[in-house]
Amino acid sequence: MFKGRSLLTLLDYTPDEIRSLLELAHRLKAEKSQGIFPHRLADKNIVLLFEKTSTRTRCAFEVAAYDEGARVTFLSNSQMGKKESLEDTAKVLGRFYDGIEFRGFEQQTVVDLVKHSGVPVWNGLTDLYHPTQVLADVMTVQEHIDKPLNQIKFVYVGDARNNVANSLMIISAKLGMHFVAVSPKDLFPDAKLTADMKALAGETGGSIEITDSIDGVVGADVLYTDVWVSMGEEAQFGERIKLLEPYRIDMDMVKKTGNPDMIFLHCLPSFHDLETVVGRQIFDEYGLREMEVSDEVFRSRHSKVFDEAENRMHTIKAVMVATLTDELDN
Ligand code: CP
Ligand code: NVA
Repeated sequence: MFKGRSLLTLLDYTPDEIRSLLELAHRLKAEKSQGIFPHRLADKNIVLLFEKTSTRTRCAFEVAAYDEGARVTFLSNSQMGKKESLEDTAKVLGRFYDGIEFRGFEQQTVVDLVKHSGVPVWNGLTDLYHPTQVLADVMTVQEHIDKPLNQIKFVYVGDARNNVANSLMIISAKLGMHFVAVSPKDLFPDAKLTADMKALAGETGGSIEITDSIDGVVGADVLYTDVWVSMGEEAQFGERIKLLEPYRIDMDMVKKTGNPDMIFLHCLPSFHDLETVVGRQIFDEYGLREMEVSDEVFRSRHSKVFDEAENRMHTIKAVMVATLTDELDN
């Protein structure tokens, strides 16, 4: 059953349920391309609660909701936690809205929102997880690589203990992919999560490997990276640059995969040039023109990052339709 459920982490979903969400996302994408809009969410009201900044996630929720006939409130300056407790705010939002999207710091916030609002809550990124992101990532892999997921070597390079890396490891284990995190030892993922995902991958036919050796990229079908410093960690730029510079995805690393058809993915936003305020500050202070990925790779034929960004919308639409209607329950 999907109707009435929240999506706080993909740990709560079975492999079959994740496959169903992905199939629905592909179907909704095909529908939209044919101009078919059945308005499955007509008369639903959705609130988007943001403690951290966003482009893709906010816009994906809004466009997905509008496509399906729902109405949206964007709330980034609420009283929650400042002048009103989370509990009281959640109770109010639960009276007004059919679903709540939350982006912010603590994973506990989404847990508490579920408890007190009584409506589905969707995690639009916390410090720990970014589940809607990785649904879009796998959808993009399915579109671009003509192999079953259990034959895919998915290599994440960079800060392997952040929200995106955690969620990629989880979805890989759930769907039987071969996931490798290539990262300095100081940024290895949580040991317990890694052990649990290794055990799960053992059951699903996948595998999980964590290494600090760049050789981990050999044979990759997918090279994936994320920013070196996640939202809320800005004080750590200096230390992260020292740790992660050897792990930048550049053309040498792409060649090292030995796979001419490999694809490059990135959740975005990305520091691949000097076209941002932060990028220029990093250049002034550390002399770097690009961080986690070279501009050359970002703009290369391998890069599918804008297909991936588009798929945020189709997958988020699938999550809302699945959890607010009986579309997948019949
Ligand atoms: N990938 C992602 O979540 O992007 P935004 O921060 O722009 O929402
Ligand atoms: N790890 C990044 C992802 C941004 C979409 C962050 O949390 O800032």
